[in-house]
Amino acid sequence: MHTHILPAADDGAQNMADAMRMVRLAWKNGTRTIMLTPHYRGAYKTNTPQWHRENLDIFRRMVADEFPDMELYLGSEAHYEIDLPDRVMAGDVMTLNESRYILLEFSSISLKSRIIAGVSEMISCGLVPIIAHADRYEAFRATENLADEVLEMGALIQLNADSVMGKHGAQVHAFCHRLLQEEKAHFIASDAHDVEHRPPQLRDCFLSVHKKYGQEYAAQIFCTNARAVIENRRM
Ligand SMILES: [Fe+2]
Repeated sequence: MHTHILPAADDGAQNMADAMRMVRLAWKNGTRTIMLTPHYRGAYKTNTPQWHRENLDIFRRMVADEFPDMELYLGSEAHYEIDLPDRVMAGDVMTLNESRYILLEFSSISLKSRIIAGVSEMISCGLVPIIAHADRYEAFRATENLADEVLEMGALIQLNADSVMGKHGAQVHAFCHRLLQEEKAHFIASDAHDVEHRPPQLRDCFLSVHKKYGQEYAAQIFCTNARAVIENRRM
């Protein structure tokens, strides 16, 4: 649901070879459907949706040669800035597989008020914001009810697998598991950037969530909710 695998699109895979290595690792981990979410922020904004789609067509053909059963979809990780609603309405920002769902990123030090504003503005644009890696923001961890507040507004929450697995410390781990315990997270994703430091590996995290929280919720947050997004269905 959240990867930087599309070749040369951002700070993830730098070329086709990098991207193919990432796809192979994902496939080994049991992944058969990947949402490509290149950054929409800073200098990457000059890569237009049209450019990304042409890039996707070439990449899809390469992947299909080696993995005919791997599905690839295109979206973006849209960084919230003051002009994002205008850019969304102008069609410059890709939603997830052209659905009503947008993967929305904030800065790690964004204040609660900015997060609420971003969520509210995306909803005003007719979209359902999915908060990208909610585990990464100080405001979510520090403000007990911020997650509840954005959920009540209609947003959804994505967590990064490495945070769920405790790779970013006890506080981040505790935050993730509080949400999982209460079934308030909707997606777990790799946010993969390469095969070494931020790899597309979800198998261990899936098994751990499955063991702690059961088959039904694990299937929902690793598979079925993502499928609903791809098909632009309500959840
Ligand atoms: Fe990301």
